[in-house]
Amino acid sequence: MRVRKAVFPVGGLGTRFLPATKALPKEMLPIVDKPLIQYAVEEAAAAGVEEFIFVTGRGKAAIEDHFDHSYELEDLLSARDKTEELAALRAAIPAAGQVAYTRQQEPLGLGHAVWCARNLVGNEPFAVLLADDLIQSKTPCLKQMSDAAAEIGGNMVAVMDVPREHTARYGILDVGSDDGHLAEVRGLVEKPDPVEAPSTLSVIGRYILMPEVFEYLGRKEKGAGGEIQLTDAMAQLIGAQPFHGLRFEGTRFDCGDKLGFLKATVAFGLDRDDLREGLGKYLSDIS
Ligand code: G1P
Repeated sequence: MRVRKAVFPVGGLGTRFLPATKALPKEMLPIVDKPLIQYAVEEAAAAGVEEFIFVTGRGKAAIEDHFDHSYELEDLLSARDKTEELAALRAAIPAAGQVAYTRQQEPLGLGHAVWCARNLVGNEPFAVLLADDLIQSKTPCLKQMSDAAAEIGGNMVAVMDVPREHTARYGILDVGSDDGHLAEVRGLVEKPDPVEAPSTLSVIGRYILMPEVFEYLGRKEKGAGGEIQLTDAMAQLIGAQPFHGLRFEGTRFDCGDKLGFLKATVAFGLDRDDLREGLGKYLSDIS
């Protein structure tokens, strides 16, 4: 099994980051100097993905521009002999025909956003990456998943344990057999109350899914929050196909949340050779 295509739902309004996101897609917010969506695209490419499918919405044109040439800028960098910057800029652009955009015309939920990509995905396994979930790891998270999925097949979600009081923020697993790395998914419930949550193992925004999920998404049944939930459609696949949660190696930052965003900025800043010393000194000076 090979995952060649990835879907990036980027239609969300980003209301938690207003006013920054009034005219700027939230996926274009930078961690250090790179937009969140570029981290997600690079992660997918590192896992062998060759086709990048964006499910966008109104006001998201900056994402399309970001993954295209900017001839004015490239000419300028070239004229000034800024070869490194030029190479980095060009390396971030998928080859012609490798990127596709479709619009989610109404905000009906994550499940609906993924369903909007059904004709572009076709009848093959595919990945879904939520750019808000930024993962710092040695091996990119989706690569960890695609390696594991190549061996055991079927559907896979990235998972991590969360405090019980946070279960209402996530898709939560009902766990079958569990070797501490891979957990068999026996059930899935979207945003359960802490008292009702079947476990504290939660879905993080990385998925490898079989195309049969589109059949269930197409039923457009509303779930938690009155939205069409990806979790509910995935739950229908359990039993018919293998389904596992992978406890990934790495640290996940919820960049849809202000504190998570700031933590990611610090962590990724400290990981950079050009910033580590200065940022580290500043952090120790103020603590
Ligand atoms: C979405 C999914 C949820 C998952 C979460 C991970 O929720 O619906 O199952 O656990 O992403 O970040 P959202 O954060 O869009 O509310």
